[in-house]
Amino acid sequence: MLEFSRVVLERAGQRVLDGVDLRIFPGQRVGLVGPSGAGKSSLLQLAAGLLAPASGAVGNTFARTCVAFQEPRLLPWRSVLDNLRIPLRAAGHDDAQARRIAGRWLARVGLDARAQAWPRQLSGGMAQRVSLARAFALEPDLLLLDEPFGALDPALRQELGELCDAELARTGAALLCVSHHPQELARRVDRCLRLEHGHLHPCLLPGAFAGEILHATPAAPQRHASPS
Ligand SMILES: Nc1ncnc2c1ncn2[C@@H]1O[C@H](COP(=O)(O)OP(=O)(O)OP(=O)(O)O)[C@@H](O)[C@H]1O
Ligand SMILES: [Mg+2]
Repeated sequence: MLEFSRVVLERAGQRVLDGVDLRIFPGQRVGLVGPSGAGKSSLLQLAAGLLAPASGAVGNTFARTCVAFQEPRLLPWRSVLDNLRIPLRAAGHDDAQARRIAGRWLARVGLDARAQAWPRQLSGGMAQRVSLARAFALEPDLLLLDEPFGALDPALRQELGELCDAELARTGAALLCVSHHPQELARRVDRCLRLEHGHLHPCLLPGAFAGEILHATPAAPQRHASPS
């Protein structure tokens, strides 16, 4: 489970999160929306253990938490293939396995022909696809996605969205996904939260019934919200 308890975060002297509570159970899929600068990426970085709260606590008992950041964050001095191979090696795969998994994922995002390219030779959308492939290749049980399809054209957005949904269905991974596209989130998540002025609020997605709003701290694991 991922659990935020009364989390306060300050960045550059400003209070970004002001006592946030959040629980995500295995298999749950949660959307996160909110205005620019509200702190969505910061919240994901806290979940990934990359930032520490000023007060409160972040607990994460998931075994493999993987992030696709808002910007691709590829290693510029390593080839595209190595950007997948190195984290796979760090996760315990031998080199042959790591190369095989990396190659398979690059093919799945349509970039197998770019395996030996440098990150600087990729377009923004290509780099974002590599970043997504890197996150999925590690078989996360908690996937943190920050505007994962922001740099993609509509056709690729659709294709990568379907790939993402298929992979989540196959692995049953939990998801925390930041997006500015409520329609897209509505297909992908069980519940949605809005971050504004340092607080999380339940948020109604397009097409949802009023009863589908779940609270920020649900009592029990729940994959699909029921409309009752
Ligand atoms: N590396 C950083 N150092 C200091 N302050 C930061 C840093 N990154 C973000 N901030 C500040 O933290 C606050 C929240 O930023 P954050 O990137 O989490 O917002 P966001 O909701 O993800 O916005 P967007 O929708 O534009 O991506 C902002 O006031 C921002 O200026
Ligand atoms: Mg952001």
